[in-house]
Amino acid sequence: MPDSGNIFIKGPSVLKGPVKAGGSKNASLAILAATLVTDEKCVLRNIPRMTDISVMLNLLELLGKKVAREGSAVIIENGSGLRSEAPYDLVKKLRASILVMGALAGRKSSVSVSLPGGCAIGTRPIDLHLKGLVKMGASYRLSGGFINLSSKGLRGKRIYLDYPSVGATENLLAAACRAEGETVIENISREPEVIEMVRFVKQMGVQAEVSGDMLRVSGRRDFNPVDFTVMDDRIQAGTYAIAGCLKNSAVDIEYSNPEHLEPLLDKLRDGGASVTAGENLISVRGVSRFRALEITTAPYPGFPTDLQAPLTALLTRAKGVSVVTEKVFENRFLHCAELSRMGAEIEVKGESAIISGRSSLSGAPVNAMDLRGGAALVIAGMMASGKTRVSGIQHIERGYDNLAGSLRELGADIWTK
Ligand code: UD1
Repeated sequence: MPDSGNIFIKGPSVLKGPVKAGGSKNASLAILAATLVTDEKCVLRNIPRMTDISVMLNLLELLGKKVAREGSAVIIENGSGLRSEAPYDLVKKLRASILVMGALAGRKSSVSVSLPGGCAIGTRPIDLHLKGLVKMGASYRLSGGFINLSSKGLRGKRIYLDYPSVGATENLLAAACRAEGETVIENISREPEVIEMVRFVKQMGVQAEVSGDMLRVSGRRDFNPVDFTVMDDRIQAGTYAIAGCLKNSAVDIEYSNPEHLEPLLDKLRDGGASVTAGENLISVRGVSRFRALEITTAPYPGFPTDLQAPLTALLTRAKGVSVVTEKVFENRFLHCAELSRMGAEIEVKGESAIISGRSSLSGAPVNAMDLRGGAALVIAGMMASGKTRVSGIQHIERGYDNLAGSLRELGADIWTK
């Protein structure tokens, strides 16, 4: 990924005012990939502008869709005929490219998708995606860095996921939309972004029902055109809520579904912040010294792994010793060494980070190594005294729609260069 500059912050910051979470990156990615199920026109609204989305739109074009952007809407129509190969050059830029596999497998007798490979936050295998597709009648082989899938048409089956994987649930849901008969997936991911994708396929005319941790989908061949507004981004909203806990800050976050963030908001209240959640608004009032917390990440409705790093940053200044345990991804503590460079006291032991809160941090040059870890460094920069330079901001730009600009509007002394 090319380097796209630095974020500079002169802290400490006091944040005040309203901020809006843009459209959901992860729901948009799953829904964009699912447009490959249909030949009908799809108008998708509230699609954020960020690198991961641009890569997915490029991939859809390459696979034969016609893609147009109009403000925050994306219009997807049939273009030059559906192709069935997702090349390495795009998949390596966006792991979520693997999400096109299920939709393509439902339509093509042979499909080739480049293997996504590992990434900075662990090996991230796709065995559950493949196991489900095999159960539905596909076979695959790995060759030359590609997964080559073939089938004589997918059939609905009962599939049990050993782990409630977000991507596997989304891929199998897309595959099930065109499979013959009913697919039942047990132990599904219940992340709001997955439920959003279910809402999307229902608008396409697919009969799909979630009950508890089970999803039933009846496959079909004809679909409705869709005009669909994607939910707001839960992780961006959560990041702003964490930033709202800074001393003397008062931030009001416009977000479509505050109840999705209860696992975070509850922890912010435990830490001493004043947090209220209304219908479309979350109000956070900072506290002069946050209290230490114990956090363990888990699939929804557990504490979201994507907010682990930003919250860890906040805890570096909390009173007492916090323990943050990461259960969803291995190796998701890359930000901890960088936070230590700012004076934080963190010891990583296996899947836990033990954080002894300090009364102050000091600005330093630090490097973002992944998306959420990058956001954590920005939060730490706003808590620290003096100047922080965050390099590697191409990682942050993958999933935040103008993070520095939004924080500047809230009053932070922050700029990009
Ligand atoms: C999605 C999100 C990501 C979020 C994560 C967990 C997108 C584009 N990304 O990622 O932001 O952090 O959910 O909420 O929506 N696993 C396997 N085998 C599989 C699939 C997954 O072992 O076949 C493991 C992974 O290695 C990981 C865990 O399951 O340790 C969670 O992965 P998963 O839920 O699939 O997350 P993603 O879809 O990759």
